[in-house]
This record gives sequence, C-alpha cells and structure tokens, in this order.
Amino acid sequence: MSYPEQVKIVEVGPRDGLQNESVTVPAETKVALVEKLADAGLSVIEAGAFVSPKWVPQMATSGEVFVQIQKRSGVSYPMLVPNLKGLELAHAVGVREIALFAAATETFSQKNTNCSIEQSIDRFGLVIGRAQDLGIKVRGYVSCVLGCPYEGDVSSDTVLMITQKLFDRGCYEVSLGDTIGVGTAGQAQALVELLARHVPVRQLAAHFHDTYGQALANIHAVMQCGIAVVDSSIAGLGGCPYAKGATGNVATEDVVYMLHGMGIETGVDMDGLLEAGRFISEFLRREPVSRAATALLRKKAG
Ligand code: HMG
Ligand code: MG
Repeated sequence: MSYPEQVKIVEVGPRDGLQNESVTVPAETKVALVEKLADAGLSVIEAGAFVSPKWVPQMATSGEVFVQIQKRSGVSYPMLVPNLKGLELAHAVGVREIALFAAATETFSQKNTNCSIEQSIDRFGLVIGRAQDLGIKVRGYVSCVLGCPYEGDVSSDTVLMITQKLFDRGCYEVSLGDTIGVGTAGQAQALVELLARHVPVRQLAAHFHDTYGQALANIHAVMQCGIAVVDSSIAGLGGCPYAKGATGNVATEDVVYMLHGMGIETGVDMDGLLEAGRFISEFLRREPVSRAATALLRKKAG
C-alpha cells in the first residue's frame, strides 16, 4: 500500500466550523483563532465566507476578519464565495484566493444556494472568469459526494461531471465534500478511483465531516488512491446550516495525529493545534470534539 509522503492540511474551522455555531463569535476572536492556527504551522486557513448574511449570519463579519488577519508569507487565507457579489466583496478587502461550492444533488443545491446544479455551474463560470481577471486563485468544492440529507444516495457520475467542470473552468483544486459524513471507506475509495480516471488526483482534496465517525477511515482509504490534501477543522468544529444533524469536519488534531503516526509530513505542530483548539473550545464553552486533543491534553495535565 502506498501513501503520500506529505499531506497538505486545509484548515476550515474558522469558516465551516464557525458558520454553524449558534453563539455569535466576535471578529476579534475569529482573528485570534486564525493567528493561532497559523502559529501551529497551517499553510491554508479558510478564514470566512462572503455569503448572504441573511442566509448565514455567522459569517457576516468575514470582511472585518480578513482585514485584521496579519497575513503571513507562505500562508493562504481562502474565503468562501457563492456568486459575483461575494467575489467583489472579497476583492474589495484584498482576498487573493476564493473557494466556490456546488452540490451533487438538486435539492441540496436549492437549499444551500437557491439555484439548480446547472445554474450553479453557470454561476461559477462567471465568478471564475472574473476571479482570473483579478488574479485571484479559485478552489472548488462539491458537496454531498457520498450522500445527501434530502435525496439519500448520490450519483458518482454527477460528482464526476461537476468536478470536471470545476477543473475545466479553472479551479486549481477540487475538494470532495462528504457534507453529512455518511460515507464509508469502500465508497470513498470507489468514488476517488472513478474520479482519478478523469481528473488529476493530486488536485483533489478530501473534505469529510465526521457525523458517523468514518472520516479518518475514509481519509486513510483515499490516500491510498493518491489524495494528498485533507480539509479538517480545529477541535472538530462545525457542520453545515443546510444539512441538519451534520456534525463538524474531522478534527485537525485527529488527522495530524494519524498522519504523523504514519510518518507522513504535514508541517503542522501538534502543540500549536492544541493551543488553538483550547482557545476556541474555551470560548464556546465545550470540550474539543477531537479524541487525540482530549487524550493529549489529559496526558499533559498529568
Ligand atoms: P438568494 O437569496 O437567491 O440571493 O441567495 P439574491 O442574489 O437574490 O440576494 C439576496 C440578498 O442577499 C440580497 O440582499 C443580496 O444583495 C444579498 P437584499 O437586496 O435582500 O438586501 N447577497 C449577498 N450578500 C453578501 N454576500 C453575498 C451575497 N449574495 C447576495 N455573496 C445566495 C443566493 C447564494 C446568495 C445564498 O443562497 C447564500 O449566500 N448561500 C450560502 C449558503 C452557505 O453559506 N452555506 C454554507 C456553506 S457551503 C458548505 O458548508 C459546504 C462545504 O463545507 C463543503 C461540504 O461540506 O460539502 C463548502
Ligand atoms: Mg463542509
């Protein structure tokens, strides 16, 4: 079995995590979290979203957050954007990278972005074209790749079609979202094997929510197919406001613990992650949803 020697972690906690919190997290707390994540050595930190504040009020301060982050060389701070308006708002504050998102089922597409799959593909065309004119890099997401909260099973061919379109239009990387964390290792592997026959597997990322506790097993499985980019969320924060019951992304601490244990480099420092996780968990008044973080913090406390 072969695994990548290095894995790039894309930290999505400040966006995917905090978008789903019922507590309002002030901009300065989000900024402090992003700084701590950068201190831990993370090189990609999704710091917020320029989406409609009527749809996701938790992300309304994203412009303020982005402006206040002390940008470090070698670290990118992508922001989630659904449309041209989001791109213009992002550009106005100097964002250099955005992430677009589309869903693999019609119902999820309507619930999350108020448009059909086809309309969302037309939208990305416009957004990517404008982003390219502005010199802004674009990452893509496909949601519900292993299951949909409204439609159940999802067609792998639809996932492939959207993934191909995202690459054709100019995304440099496409992240595969198991939005509700229902997939299991065999399904995840079969999907990535199919996609790898048509698109560059090294430009795919695994974005697995951990609702059913399958995310680490699924990451382990898809690394065997060549995936070397993993999205995760500090302290396992998060969920999706349009996927009821879906819990957070796999915890960054758990992913890093597994990868370092396998001798795979990430450039991330576990103590730095523990500090970032402690900081946000204390703010939210809860324990980190990370088995590795909980065990390591207990061990440190003696
Ligand atoms: P709509 O209501 O059809 O949009 O929503 P609209 O164009 O008719 O605009 C409605 C209002 O929103 C207008 O304001 C616009 O100006 C404003 P009003 O005139 O009523 O005062 N507006 C905006 N404001 C700020 N930023 C914008 C923006 N766009 C419009 N960009 C829309 C369509 C796409 C805007 C809406 O559905 C939306 O914002 N959806 C985002 C939903 C979301 O953020 N979901 C969570 C993120 S996706 C996710 O978590 C999955 C992922 O993690 C991967 C995975 O796990 O699978 C990525
Ligand atoms: Mg997500």
